[in-house]
Amino acid sequence: VSAASLFLPGQRDLASLAQAAQGCRACPLHERATHTVFGEGPVGARLMLVGEQPGDTEDREGKPFIGPAGQLLDEVLAGVGLKREELYVTNAVKHFGWTGDEKQRLHAKPGRREVLACKAWLDAEVAQVKPKMIVCLGATAAQSFLGPGFRINLSRGQIFETPWAKAWMATYHPSALLRMPDERARAQARVHFEEDLRKAAATVR
Ligand code: URA
Repeated sequence: VSAASLFLPGQRDLASLAQAAQGCRACPLHERATHTVFGEGPVGARLMLVGEQPGDTEDREGKPFIGPAGQLLDEVLAGVGLKREELYVTNAVKHFGWTGDEKQRLHAKPGRREVLACKAWLDAEVAQVKPKMIVCLGATAAQSFLGPGFRINLSRGQIFETPWAKAWMATYHPSALLRMPDERARAQARVHFEEDLRKAAATVR
């Protein structure tokens, strides 16, 4: 079982979940994080997007996908006709993980332990929202559902039927697009990312 299940409240509505998550101590990440960044969006959202974990900006503000990766995501969502306020946007891990000092907080990718510890929150969000489709942004989110064997490069853009949603897909993480050093590879990945989100938009339409 996921360690976070010990912190789940009796009431499972999104507001109660978000409030209870503020006190989560299921893994050590809470010690150095400013906010628990819970998911945002309406119950019944047809599409749920799942990222990795909040970044520096999200940790300061307490909202998912509002930093550089969020800006790229918003741009692509708008381009494929998806309205962010109609989606449920969350992360596999609800606390920012970082190394370095306060002056330069360097993102540290969550390990399998943190992902598993946090899974009960994600499962509770899925149970409340009941999305028609889940799109995982990056391997961490995808592996939270399907295990560490999942590979973005092998299965990106394919739609699977899963216990969590009738349609489930994984695509690139927008931060991966921002980081790719090779310009041609980056442009190609951006095209794939847009195609995948367009396919998701068509699936939930
Ligand atoms: N990257 C993520 O995976 N999630 C966020 O909320 C922000 C950046």
